[in-house]
Amino acid sequence: MPHHFPTLQVVILAAGKGTRMASVKPKVLHTVLGKTMLEHVLHTVENLKPESVSLIAGHGISEVKKHIGQPANLFWVEQKEQLGTGHAVLQAEHSPTNADLVLIVCGDTPLLSSETLASLVKQHQSLEASISVLSAIIDEPKGYGRIVRDQHNQVQAIVEEKDATSEQRKIQEVSSGIFCVNRELLFQCLHQVENNNAQQEYYLPDILPLALAKKHNVQAITMDNPQEMLGINDRFQLTQAEAYMQQKIMREWQNKGVTIEQAETVRIEASVNIGIDCTIKAGSQLLGATHLGDGCIVGPYAVLQDSWLDDDIVIAPFSHLEDANVGHHTTIGPFARLRPGAKLDEGVRVGNFVEIKKSVIGQGSKVNHLSYIGDTVMGENCNIGAGTITCNYDGANKHQTTLGDDVFVGSDTKLIAPVIVENNATIGAGSIITKTVKQDGLTLSARPEQRHVKNWMRPKKGDV
Ligand code: UD1
Ligand code: CA
Repeated sequence: MPHHFPTLQVVILAAGKGTRMASVKPKVLHTVLGKTMLEHVLHTVENLKPESVSLIAGHGISEVKKHIGQPANLFWVEQKEQLGTGHAVLQAEHSPTNADLVLIVCGDTPLLSSETLASLVKQHQSLEASISVLSAIIDEPKGYGRIVRDQHNQVQAIVEEKDATSEQRKIQEVSSGIFCVNRELLFQCLHQVENNNAQQEYYLPDILPLALAKKHNVQAITMDNPQEMLGINDRFQLTQAEAYMQQKIMREWQNKGVTIEQAETVRIEASVNIGIDCTIKAGSQLLGATHLGDGCIVGPYAVLQDSWLDDDIVIAPFSHLEDANVGHHTTIGPFARLRPGAKLDEGVRVGNFVEIKKSVIGQGSKVNHLSYIGDTVMGENCNIGAGTITCNYDGANKHQTTLGDDVFVGSDTKLIAPVIVENNATIGAGSIITKTVKQDGLTLSARPEQRHVKNWMRPKKGDV
């Protein structure tokens, strides 16, 4: 009995339209916690270090290719017409491979773990089986193929819901659609599979009776955790899959030292990374490739998309970050918006109702209230007064604002870009800056004269 893990050809079935999703998008490109179903499956099978992966695509193949790219050892196989799962696997017959074993998985089962797949392969070997199907015993078997066993508990066949008798429909052991098969036998049998069934499709599961007739050892191996085999056919199941995966991901981060308050209201997507001693508060969403260093506090109700946070950062409530980069010991919000290209150095402070886009904010600088900073390079230890606006857009082009170190900008200043403010300059409140501001000293634009109208009467209600 071999003790080494065998070389595998993995075949992923992903050619179907996914009619039940009611979508223009191919089913396997729908996302579960920010990653497409197909990416989840690809990552899972990569952990088994297969010799090759044949991806059977058909419906929307160009869109699928565009999304997945070309990972090493991946072969694209086109199934032009979707004539059934058996017909789909048959398309992989001439994929280049030296493997003796084929592991067949579906592109629409993103919850499956590599541990479960590895255990199927190991049991296939230790039972010296020719075909092993991964099965599960579930309360609601509706929609799945049922595992039919004889009185000796030997598996006989898999019967699809649409072909099953009412007796067979009561069977609670179902096929996950995942098979481990000896390669030579697989293609021998697939050539013999017929389509005389309710859907007039060539069913992969029909290789079972054909192999049994050839006296081969066929096994149905029951999985420990049936939830993993949830096949996503519609949007309800998509939501179910997200809920299951979310709990699993939360548990992993909790085990790695992350506190999650009111976890049922929080979203943490699959590609997110979080350091130790972070606290994620109610209603917050960590999306895409977001990375948190150690000791960060996020929320309540903060949304972080594809953003990088160093250590010890506070993202106060209702802040929104997208493609932002935030240095150590920085405080953001509440109600702050960091847009793509916002890059904040250490110890920066960004307060409420501040928007920052495509700008570098130097170490220790503060933009505390009601400002728009766009296309700006700001030095260290600047203080930007309330209501400061970089006027960066002339209707056609964006222009840059450059601030040196230790600049103090008085409240309600407009910096008409392109413009430069030199080190240690102070700008008086309400200024409109159109030319270079020289270093040191005070710069201010002319202010309108203040008048007093002595006998002026405030209008009263009822006046005409
Ligand atoms: C299939 C199985 C069923 C199993 C269930 C588990 C068959 C006939 N049925 O049913 O026994 O319990 O999965 O989730 O195998 N596909 C192709 N080309 C085709 C047809 C399908 O690539 O011509 C792909 C689909 O894109 C999908 C996968 O195969 O990723 C399964 O097809 P689907 O139509 O979802 O089968 P189910 O009805 O779920
Ligand atoms: Ca399915």
